[in-house]
Amino acid sequence: MEYEVVLPAAGSGKRMGAGQNKLFLQLAEKPILIHTLNVFEADVNCTGIWLAVKPEERLFIEALLAQYNITKVKGLPAGGEERQHSVHSCIKEMSNVNIVLVHDAARPFITHGIIERLASTAFVKGAAIAGVRAKDTMKKVRDGVITETVDRESLWMIQTPQAFRFDLLAEAEDVAEKVGFLGTDEAMLVERLGHEVHIVESSYENVKMTTKEDLIFGEAILASRKS
Ligand code: C5P
Repeated sequence: MEYEVVLPAAGSGKRMGAGQNKLFLQLAEKPILIHTLNVFEADVNCTGIWLAVKPEERLFIEALLAQYNITKVKGLPAGGEERQHSVHSCIKEMSNVNIVLVHDAARPFITHGIIERLASTAFVKGAAIAGVRAKDTMKKVRDGVITETVDRESLWMIQTPQAFRFDLLAEAEDVAEKVGFLGTDEAMLVERLGHEVHIVESSYENVKMTTKEDLIFGEAILASRKS
């Protein structure tokens, strides 16, 4: 199933504490951003990449695209204050797209198999997001005291990519902007419209590079894939 992908890359990565955009940090001698871009560059079904960037980083990112021969980027709009604003700035520039995927640029280990299942489920159902089953016992806590043990069977940890029919996501983003609603993922905006969002079981390897420990996991994942 053909699709275009939006990669928000305009964060500051404060939790990484690197003093620079974490996407420029190296894993196995390549920037995290390039690992993520390579997945979509190599996917025959990906017909375009949209990167939300900080304006002051645009030139540097364009140089990286040239250096690593990334050819599918169609635009690099300015990102916003929050991730949702960064995604929206890409959506506003896109046209003639049927299926759109939104994927954190900081998740470099996504596989073609999961992408394909997301894109084809979104084509049939409208909205499909990647997630994995909660592994640990989950409890609600208030003021340091357990208030409830939650049934783990119904709990999923949500990742990206999140895939949508383009018109559905564009409407959800526009409505959220109009009423000033800020969600923590794109699915929340679509759920608010009353539309069903389907889950596609993903992999625990699809981690987001958020803190320093994640870089250690990242190197380990790359090493295990290599061997
Ligand atoms: O901070 P976090 O890792 O959750 O961000 C997820 C992704 O969203 C990252 O790739 C980051 O660059 C991007 N982002 C963005 N604009 C923001 C905040 C985050 O594009 N304002």
